[in-house]
Parts: sequence; structure tokens; C-alpha cells
Amino acid sequence: MNSLIIANWKCNPATLKEAQELFSEIKENIINKDIVICPPSIFLPSLICDGINFGAQNCFWKESGAYTGEVSPQMIKSIGCKYVIIGHSERRTIFNESNDEIKSKIKQAKKAGLIPIVCIGESKNQNTFEIIEEQIKDIEKDIILAYEPLWAIGTGENASIDKVREVREYLKDRKVLYGGSVNSQNAKDYLEIADGLLIGGASLNAKEFIKISNILCDI
Ligand code: PGA
Repeated sequence: MNSLIIANWKCNPATLKEAQELFSEIKENIINKDIVICPPSIFLPSLICDGINFGAQNCFWKESGAYTGEVSPQMIKSIGCKYVIIGHSERRTIFNESNDEIKSKIKQAKKAGLIPIVCIGESKNQNTFEIIEEQIKDIEKDIILAYEPLWAIGTGENASIDKVREVREYLKDRKVLYGGSVNSQNAKDYLEIADGLLIGGASLNAKEFIKISNILCDI
């Protein structure tokens, strides 16, 4: 796998017009095509186009049925997405998603033919490897993991390169991305260790995201 740069727009921007403007600036200036844009699901059909990979930020664990408000992996696949982020720490903490629920989502996503990007990582007072063991238990190896320590997300406080290297080595037979306050200044260091990056805040700034993505062309 080439290194993947994933843009996680989270619940941003507030309008379709802004999402279209952000995406068209990215599309016009991007050289590296190993990127995945994950906008809010509702914007996906208006943005999806040839030549760029798209993903959803979450999915349901059933294919269809009486589940008001849910979006299934099969639906996400049917509009042209290739990836889905599952178990982001914001979903685990704010929406109380459990490891079992995450496992069910991974299973359904794979059944639909999507590639799951599964987020793992510890909070400040937790042991990294104990938490990772719990989070990857019974999860097959043919998915992408994103190591995102909770204290590094949106804080400007990065995990150290040594820490990411340690996690990378611990999970040596898996694909592991790094996420947590990545920007154009620190992206290159992480890209030398990890299999790619999951970018939140910096992916909402087209110039910054393009800079980060195009670093790969120099490595
Ligand atoms: P951040 O978010 O880059 O803003 O720290 C990363 C993420 O939550 O995926």
C-alpha cells in the first residue's frame, strides 16, 4: 500500500457551498492521488468524482431496515466510496461506541466491500498497549488502523516520533496510520514511520492539506 493521507472533515464545514469550495481547491491543486476525503456523509454525493478516493466518517452495523437516522456501509459503497472511518475516538467517547459495536461495523463494512479505517488509541492516563490490545481484539488484519492517542487529537500536542514508532513496531503485521495534530511542519517525520496519516483540523485548510499530501511526492 502506498502511504495514505486521509482527510477527516468531522462535522465541518457548515454548508454544502463551503464543502464544494474546499473540495474544489483541493482537487485543483493536489498532485498526490493517494488521498481519501471524508466529508460529512450528506455532502458525499455532491463531491464524489473520478480520480479521488472518498470515505464516510462512520457507518451502521446493519445493511438496511428500521433504524431511523442510520447510514449503512452498503449505502456508502453504492454512492462510490471506497473507505469508511470506524471507531473514531469522538464516536467512542461522545457517542459511547463500544469495541463490540465497532467490531460489528467493521464486519458489515467489509461485507459491503468498503475498506475500514479503524481508529485506536489511549487517553492520557491509560496504558497504550493494554488499550490497543482491547481495541484490536478479534479484528482481522486486512483493515487499516489509525493510531490516534486521544490527548493528541485537536490539541496541538503530538505523540512523539518514538511513541509512534513503538506502536508501529507493536502492530508490525498491520497497516498503521498516525493521527493527532498533524500539520505540514510535522507530517514528514510521521510519514517516515507510519503507513499514512489521518488529518482532522489541518484538512479543513485546503493549502495546508495540499502541502501535507504532496510531501509524499518527495519521500
Ligand atoms: P486533528 O484530528 O488532526 O485535528 O488532531 C485528527 C482526527 O481526529 O482524526
